[in-house]
Amino acid sequence: MTETTYQTILTEEKEHIFYITINREDKLNALNIQTLADIKNAILSIYENPKIKGVILTGKGTKAFAAGADIAEFANFTVEEGTRMSQDGHAVLRAIEHCPKPVIAAINGFALGGGNELAMSCHIRVCAEKAKFGQPEVNLGIIPGYAGTQRLTQLIGKGRALELLMTGDIIDANTALQLGLVNHVVPAEQLISKCEEILNKIKNKAPLAIASVIECVNAFYEKRMDGNTLEVNEFGNFFGSEDFIEGTSAFLEKRQANFIGK
Ligand code: COA
Repeated sequence: MTETTYQTILTEEKEHIFYITINREDKLNALNIQTLADIKNAILSIYENPKIKGVILTGKGTKAFAAGADIAEFANFTVEEGTRMSQDGHAVLRAIEHCPKPVIAAINGFALGGGNELAMSCHIRVCAEKAKFGQPEVNLGIIPGYAGTQRLTQLIGKGRALELLMTGDIIDANTALQLGLVNHVVPAEQLISKCEEILNKIKNKAPLAIASVIECVNAFYEKRMDGNTLEVNEFGNFFGSEDFIEGTSAFLEKRQANFIGK
């Protein structure tokens, strides 16, 4: 396989596993547009590669998997830019969800907002004991824009999803396990080896059968595509609201937001 250099992620191929590491540690691996493009290109690069039997997606460092979409980048977006951001994000996460090889999120720390949405687009989630999860977008005067309203509901059910989405609560690893948001919680030093252990079981199975299982399970949810369209439109519209300007400004100025409902 030819090595491709990406701006915001690191990639490595080892024993038929493709490793993707989000490499913006100083920004808690926040997902800017470049990062999402890099992840999408990296995932697409292995779709047709018969040597690759699975993917592990993680974040650099010990603090964050990804602390969300990059607030500094989108704080001044217009309605049109916000809508495009959501459409593009949906497309990246769909590329992961429809990857014909199993993709495991190795969640090493914070998985917030877009970070949790990214993890939820993976086929399996394994996290370290100190990982934290949440969809805190309502604190910023917006809603999740990378299919969080859809995949969180699919994974943990309507009532639990609504509570997390409306409170913006941050939950710990064991709560995430109890809710079904993650498959396994392991000590940090065993995070990657646990993911490798799962992929090593899948590695020797028939590749076409694995790809087919992924697509058949995905098909169960396809009828809910209307919710995705609604989310994209709603998300974009928030970029025209005063509360969005207040929410993102408050985060960047490190102060409490004061929302007015406009
Ligand atoms: N977008 C852009 N930058 C982010 C970010 C995000 N989602 N999350 C963290 N960062 C940046 C911070 O601005 C800070 O940058 P700076 O050093 O240049 O000021 C750096 O990452 C470290 O974050 P900091 O907030 O200082 O770390 P902390 O340990 O005090 O808090 C969090 C950690 C995760 C609780 C906090 O960073 C946070 O609330 N992040 C935003 C989470 C969020 O709302 N995500 C959803 C976005 S849609």
